[in-house]
Amino acid sequence: ISTLPVFSQEEVSKHRSLSDGVWVTYRGGVYDITEFVAMHPGGEKILLAAGGALEPFWALYAVHNQEHVLEILSEYKVGEL
Ligand code: HEM
Repeated sequence: ISTLPVFSQEEVSKHRSLSDGVWVTYRGGVYDITEFVAMHPGGEKILLAAGGALEPFWALYAVHNQEHVLEILSEYKVGEL
């Protein structure tokens, strides 16, 4: 049973900095990755996706096409689009 809230794209797009929080979307899920930014193996490039969709970036950086990457992402889920 999912009890996570539903967010609009407009709400997600308000979270695009470390001070406002860094949120991204992926396949209809909303993720607050603020705490992960400093741990990202690819460094601050991750902020390019802040406030929007991961898909176009992960299409470019195929290193993310691995189960363990999705496991990391799943820890940060805060809602649905
Ligand atoms: C590498 C996670 C977003 C660029 C990685 C790796 C992980 C990761 C776990 C290491 C993978 C491995 O070597 O097995 C994530 C997560 C993201 C995210 C959870 C979103 C929540 C992004 C974005 C970009 C990006 C948006 C680019 C705009 C890169 C690059 C590497 C990388 C370039 C390779 C770093 C290297 O090996 O030198 N990411 N990533 N990532 N990521 Fe991300």
